[in-house]
Amino acid sequence: MDTAEFRRRGKEMVDYVADYLDNVEQRPVYPDVEPGYLRSLIPAEAPLEPEKYDDIMTDVERVIMPGVTHWHSPYFYAYFAAASSYPAMLADMLSTAIGCIGFSWAASPACTELETVMLDWLGKMLNLPEDFIAGTEGQGGGVIQGTASEATLVSMLAARCKAVRRIQASNPEKSEADILSKLVAYTSEQAHSSVERASLIAGVMMKKVPADNNYGVEGAMLKRMLEQDKADGLIPFYFCATLGTTPSCAFDHTTELGPICNEEQMWMHIDAAYAGSAFICPEFRPLLNGVEFADSFNFNPHKWLLVNFDCSTMWVKKRESIIGAFKMEPLYLKHENQESGLITDYRHWQIPLGRRFRSLKMWFVFRMYGLQGLQDHIRKQVDLAKEFESLVRADSRFEICAKVVMGLVCFRLKGSNGLSELLLKRITKSREIHLVPCQLSTRFVLRFAICARSTESRHIQHAWKHITKLTSEMLEYRH
Ligand SMILES: Cc1ncc(COP(=O)(O)O)c(C=O)c1O
Repeated sequence: MDTAEFRRRGKEMVDYVADYLDNVEQRPVYPDVEPGYLRSLIPAEAPLEPEKYDDIMTDVERVIMPGVTHWHSPYFYAYFAAASSYPAMLADMLSTAIGCIGFSWAASPACTELETVMLDWLGKMLNLPEDFIAGTEGQGGGVIQGTASEATLVSMLAARCKAVRRIQASNPEKSEADILSKLVAYTSEQAHSSVERASLIAGVMMKKVPADNNYGVEGAMLKRMLEQDKADGLIPFYFCATLGTTPSCAFDHTTELGPICNEEQMWMHIDAAYAGSAFICPEFRPLLNGVEFADSFNFNPHKWLLVNFDCSTMWVKKRESIIGAFKMEPLYLKHENQESGLITDYRHWQIPLGRRFRSLKMWFVFRMYGLQGLQDHIRKQVDLAKEFESLVRADSRFEICAKVVMGLVCFRLKGSNGLSELLLKRITKSREIHLVPCQLSTRFVLRFAICARSTESRHIQHAWKHITKLTSEMLEYRH
């Protein structure tokens, strides 16, 4: 493909993408294929001779689209939202064209510097404490990770390193292996599975803290566990709080938990993967109170802030605690500006070396929407969730299972779990709308998350009509 053809095909691709997104609601949101469906549709070997572009595009409809779950359909209500906007897509295209691997300032100064400033912009939108902002006298700053899972892992590894150094400083006779065997990380029983996974990778013990009746962890509960564990000779070193849990969008009590973590010299990381975006709205910002006690804070603009995947923003109060944990300095990565006192080498903040120019997406989106436009997006989606909640509440066959705070509604059919399980099976099979379940206490619960940017009231009304129709059919059939 030469430049002339690229220009032509590029314009065609923009049209294809625009048509796809404009009409995505007409496609079944959940694909009707069986595992292994794709292998039989394409050759077993890569082609020897070049093929025609038109043939590839024909195959996109023949091979790919039948197996796509359409996350940007307004009938997609599963998991949490995956952000999508046109400015982000265009910026991503530019990032791909620049194609730099910006692991250090020298590897692409704009890539490093724009990221630092975008994290400051976003940090200020969230009204984060100044300690987290790089462009101040503070020692903190932000970085883009690929995912919240990586942010949690990085924070846990940094905390592990800090704890070992602190303990060895006052007990030089203690071996690292001895200390590691006693370190304990804590998180809520409602935390995302990535937190426990981080502990498996980091090779440290993890304990789950029971949540209260609203599925948030209280300070007293953590305190009780810490006292017991310390009495047993263990060393608590890390707590991951969740703001907006995956099952029900519940909130840990960070204003109680933060002081405990600080007192115990434990690293507090806050995982607000989904809910974090909403904190740019003053009415939701109080839910972030307690962040002043945290060592690190993370959320995913790629979930709810119109910046396409991947873009998981993480801030630390003391960047040295991250950099100091992972620093490797081979000669080929060194450059003459790395001691400038500014953030120059994001390679020290993450697991991989390579990194894309992801801050371009933030820059385009923030400028094209403005803070107000982003707030409007969040508020509209919360309103849609409230609309769905009212529909559920008006039907006495159903119950709401958790407080609806943001864009997620947890609901179920009253009665046995089997009923809701059966209903979900029917919903999934219908392919008209898509949602996934969760477990709250012993109850099987359906999660209805407002996801696509294009979701409107008429989609919510249609989705509810569909759910009630399937419910009536199912209940009639059972009688
Ligand atoms: C609270 C929470 N933490 C972490 C994650 C994992 O996110 P990621 O895919 O960015 O690792 C999720 C995913 O939905 C989540 O809800």
